[in-house]
Amino acid sequence: RLLKGFREEDIKACLIDFPAGEKSKNLDTVHYLVKRLLENNFDRKSAIIALGGGVVGDVGGFTAAVFMRGIPYIQVPTTLLAQVDSSIGGKTAVDVPEGKNIIGAFHQPKRVYIDPSLLESLPEREFISGLAEVVKYGVIYDRSLFEYMERNHEKIRSREKDALLHIITSSCRIKKEIVEEDPREENKRAILNYGHTSAHALEKISGYKCLHGEAVSVGMRISGWLAVRKGFWSMDEWRRQNRLLESLGLPLKMDFKVDENELIKNFHYDKKAEDRTIMFVFPKRIGEMMTINGRYKIPVSENELRNFLKDVLW
Ligand SMILES: NC(=O)c1ccc[n+]([C@@H]2O[C@H](COP(=O)([O-])OP(=O)(O)OC[C@H]3O[C@@H](n4cnc5c(N)ncnc54)[C@H](O)[C@@H]3O)[C@@H](O)[C@H]2O)c1
Repeated sequence: RLLKGFREEDIKACLIDFPAGEKSKNLDTVHYLVKRLLENNFDRKSAIIALGGGVVGDVGGFTAAVFMRGIPYIQVPTTLLAQVDSSIGGKTAVDVPEGKNIIGAFHQPKRVYIDPSLLESLPEREFISGLAEVVKYGVIYDRSLFEYMERNHEKIRSREKDALLHIITSSCRIKKEIVEEDPREENKRAILNYGHTSAHALEKISGYKCLHGEAVSVGMRISGWLAVRKGFWSMDEWRRQNRLLESLGLPLKMDFKVDENELIKNFHYDKKAEDRTIMFVFPKRIGEMMTINGRYKIPVSENELRNFLKDVLW
């Protein structure tokens, strides 16, 4: 439809696609896209439209960042996760065998067009996975969004239009505010990574069989628990977070046994790690994150991790 619209306006456009899924988020796909762009006579005045989920957004955005040293791109996200999170903020990346999102660039899209009706065809599991990021926004930044989700979890799950609009617009506003305050993640932007240190490690350990949002949900349970054990967050609120995740159909545990040493090993690839020290971001109360000396990223030693993870990985 998009292609037809462009052609009717006499705008030269071509469709380039690649197989769906995280396994396509790599440099081979970028190379494939670059070849196709060259075949189709793309130059520095051309633009890419990333029409698809987070994988298309990340790969399309990264290709736009590096093709001829950077061309513009537009995000048209078609999954809930991409509409509430990955299409906004200009982080683009591909994975390498050693870890997720290791090769990437900050490259802001010129526009982001969000149409919630695109979600009608989205499979249930993908839809639920996207809700994890919305819960995350509630925990890290917006208590009223968190409470809205508690009150309206059924409407959200049945994709009622008003509920969808509310969670999508709230999420975009929150992400925009945080990214504008700290575009290159010098401090506050790291709070968007709540639950993601574990999530990225779990995704990798699972061989990318679990969905990103599912891993984020389990990751928020893990990070939240570390926050409780470090004395930053109350057990009651941690339980409340987990109840909300569950009511939305999100998992709290992986469906395989996770070895804590393997998890810790994988934490080292996290981009928040500094000088081999593993860093986490932690809730202080629902709607607000913990800081120490004004810094959101808080170091956790391997000893602490070994101690605390035992309680939460069963
Ligand atoms: N750049 C960022 O800031 C950022 C933030 C969060 C996540 N991410 C990345 O996003 C990726 C996950 O994105 P995702 O969850 O959108 O997964 P995805 O892009 O793999 O899409 C999930 C599946 O849904 C299908 N699909 C997409 N839109 C559809 C629709 N409207 N109807 C039916 N099917 C549809 C896709 O073909 C795919 O099979 C991960 O790689 C993650 O690292 C990036």
